[in-house]
Amino acid sequence: MPRASNNSYWTKSRITHITDSQWGDTGKGKLVDLAAQHASVVIKTNGGANAGHTVQNEFGTFKLHLIPSGFANPQALCIVGTGCVVDPVEFEKEYRDIKERVLSPAQFLISDKAHLVMPWHKVLDALREASRGKGAIGTTGRGIGPAYADRALRRGFRAGDMLKKSFIKDFALELEAQERLITWLKKELGEKYRESIFDNTMLIAEMKKTREILFPLIGNSYQAVQAAIDKKRIIVGEAGQGALLDLDLGGYPFVTSSHPGIIGFMISTGLKPSQVDRVIGSTKAYITRVGNGPLPTELLDMTGERLREVGHEYGATTGRPRRTGWFDVVATAYGCQVAGITEIALTKLDVLDRFETLKVCIGYEVNGKKYSRVIDSDPAWMEKAVPVYKEVSGWQEDTSAIRIFSDLPKRAKDYIHLLEKLVGVPIKVVSVGPEREATFYH
Ligand code: GDP
Ligand code: IMO
Ligand code: MG
Repeated sequence: MPRASNNSYWTKSRITHITDSQWGDTGKGKLVDLAAQHASVVIKTNGGANAGHTVQNEFGTFKLHLIPSGFANPQALCIVGTGCVVDPVEFEKEYRDIKERVLSPAQFLISDKAHLVMPWHKVLDALREASRGKGAIGTTGRGIGPAYADRALRRGFRAGDMLKKSFIKDFALELEAQERLITWLKKELGEKYRESIFDNTMLIAEMKKTREILFPLIGNSYQAVQAAIDKKRIIVGEAGQGALLDLDLGGYPFVTSSHPGIIGFMISTGLKPSQVDRVIGSTKAYITRVGNGPLPTELLDMTGERLREVGHEYGATTGRPRRTGWFDVVATAYGCQVAGITEIALTKLDVLDRFETLKVCIGYEVNGKKYSRVIDSDPAWMEKAVPVYKEVSGWQEDTSAIRIFSDLPKRAKDYIHLLEKLVGVPIKVVSVGPEREATFYH
């Protein structure tokens, strides 16, 4: 495999989607920031403020929820795509922060067809979670499910609605209607009845201000993508979440409400699959998950705690401790398959530097039968999976300063080659630290 320089790797393809082969939080933000330095368009393809993407660059460290991770390239157009759900108030806050901290940020565009996350969606998210009791999904509480539900019901507000003269009036009316619905729901749930759920005056004033600021940013993203295609420009997709959280292909209901893989890229760009040159699957060198649902290789012992502490595995959105475990070939290969991943960027390899031995889950035993691949995404199947491990020796050397693949300790190279062979997807990028420089190509 040839070693590509920084530039040649990111400019090799015109249209790249950067997604996540696992349960999210693998380092997509870092990769998109890198790719964006060479791109004309960076487009967020799915999800909303449930995402927490960390970018560390010359302007500092950013925890982004709605602003695309390409914000640092002044030549780029950063789009929040049609398949996203946008909390306008949250977006405006982040937008303000970026403008304060970045001298000359990218241009921003919010697809007029992206749906809006409204205050009632967040309340409904919390209520639905409460009503599920022990079966709660463990959502981020950002109103994602209810906003996508309104989209499917064809009763949601879209960003384009903010451009209408009647928007604030329509918002105020819906606020009242939702308040009635939520009051009824709360009573049904037996929660303490409260007359007023929203501070309507405050929310209306806030929305008015937000509308004024976002007005010039809302527009036709399809046209913008087509214009970039006509000019043969580089386009990068930025997924939220991860393939194993896909609404349909993940372990329903312990999933999010959108499509992080290639499907999400199609929805947000309007491009056809054959136009996409590559789909990079950001993949952690071990595994994490936030929220509920099966995690076959989960480590509930000191080793899991060590992974969490060394890897700083705390949610970028909610601060929740992430569940941790050994690398799971079976789950990752499934994620690569369903997200259309053509190559892997292996992240956080440095976190494993000090482990004496490492385990790699090469198969599951379910009801006494061995499987090397997922045969059923239903969580009931994965819940029963007993991991079959291959144990390998750790390299026990610091890799965080390494900048060339060939400089890696032999055992680290062996680990990478083992994962590549077992998952069946080439590993083209290796990351050994949160900063841009801590990246090399394989
Ligand atoms: P995302 O949601 O996929 O963008 O990932 P998050 O930002 O939620 O979580 C990834 C975390 O790992 C962030 O804190 C990153 O700064 C950090 N990170 C990314 N790549 C590396 C790496 O190679 N090594 C280490 N140690 N940290 C990394
Ligand atoms: P990024 O983009 C990790 C998880 C939640 C929960 C489930 C549903 O940073 O990788 P939701 O709020 O979407 O209805 O929650 O999905 N989840 C994530 N886990 N990274 C994310 O985003 C996530 N976004 C949602 O924890 O289990
Ligand atoms: Mg994250």
